[in-house]
Amino acid sequence: MNLSPDAVNVLLWLLHQAQQTGWRWLHALGLTQPLHGQPSWPFTHRLAAEYLLNEPGQSRRLVFALATLLLLSLLGGLAWRWRRGRGWLAGVALGLLVLTPWPEWRLLLRPTVPTAFHQTPNGFSASSIVRGQRAYQAHCQRCHGADGRGEGPDAAQLPMWPPTLNGSLLWKRLDGELFWTVRHGMQDRHGQGTMPGSSLSDQQIWDLLDFLRAQAAGQTLRQTGSWMYPVPVPDVPIVCSNGSRSLSSQRGQRLRLVLTGGKGPVASEDPRLSTVAVGREAADVDCHVDNEELMQALALVVGVRPQELPGHRLIADKQGWLRVRGQPGDEQWSEDDLVCRTNARPTDMAKAQANSVDGLEAIIRRMDSEPVRSQRGGFPH
Ligand code: HEC
Repeated sequence: MNLSPDAVNVLLWLLHQAQQTGWRWLHALGLTQPLHGQPSWPFTHRLAAEYLLNEPGQSRRLVFALATLLLLSLLGGLAWRWRRGRGWLAGVALGLLVLTPWPEWRLLLRPTVPTAFHQTPNGFSASSIVRGQRAYQAHCQRCHGADGRGEGPDAAQLPMWPPTLNGSLLWKRLDGELFWTVRHGMQDRHGQGTMPGSSLSDQQIWDLLDFLRAQAAGQTLRQTGSWMYPVPVPDVPIVCSNGSRSLSSQRGQRLRLVLTGGKGPVASEDPRLSTVAVGREAADVDCHVDNEELMQALALVVGVRPQELPGHRLIADKQGWLRVRGQPGDEQWSEDDLVCRTNARPTDMAKAQANSVDGLEAIIRRMDSEPVRSQRGGFPH
């Protein structure tokens, strides 16, 4: 029997914690070099979490292997104290070694780079996304294309086509691995350069990564009708009647962003959501923000041009992930507006309940009962 996806996630979380704790100790002992302002990863490989995620059978084998290693160390301890039983204990240890279904160790590790576990100093803010967009247009667009699909004007002359940056690629890598790629470029198996490195500052590279994720989210939404990888609300300073100062400080509440456009009423208040009017100031709404950078960042995340934004309504869950998109002209909410979902199928009871409540209530119930989580390189993020 294979491990369930939840069990694999717990296993990955534990392994990630172990990997991080070991690394922190190395750092405390002075065995890691600082690089780009953060401690570097001193090994050439890291745990291949994405492999374990896709191969639940290997995860189960890994659990067995870890349990066996633990038992063997216990047996070792016993043998040290219980001299006469040593032959017997050696037999048990041999039996364990033979019977354990060992995982393929070689595949459990994958090559990585010294900045692998570097953390971005940006909080996915609207301004970092917009700064990243400018850097992208100046340094990357000629190869990767205006929409990130790899069809820039210079792409055809390259020895290989740039990949699309709008699929799963950005989420399969760790932030620090992408940082390294953008800084140092890439080579093929024969050491031939495939993508040039850059002399951008660290801050510019982190900005670029925020932009790339925002763009990838919007392009995926355009093409598939869903945000396959959860994106947070781009952060900006806001003005609220409850004293909140930024969008991110609203975490813990469900947030509705109403992109105000022409005239007409903004939105009536709803006790289930905290409302932010984006654009024109509106009476009797909890919060208000009029910020050009937020408009640009949201246009990227929604996959439309900034002038097409007014009339959209977005809902973020209590963890700050954007989950729901209402399109202009469509005033009623329906479950189809839930465009960032888990793979969980709603139970029959949930379906029956959904039929008996209004669209927004059905969405809220699913958002609360089916939380999403983001990943980087297979690790829970
Ligand atoms: C001269 C063309 C060119 C330019 C300029 C360029 N790239 Fe690339 N990029 C490529 C090619 C080609 C690949 C695929 C390389 C490979 O797989 O070996 C690539 C791959 C990537 C990848 C995927 C990395 C991975 O882990 O698979 C990312 C992310 C990326 N580029 C980001 C950027 C960013 C950000 C910039 C601007 C700072 C940029 N690129 C500039 C050609 C380019």
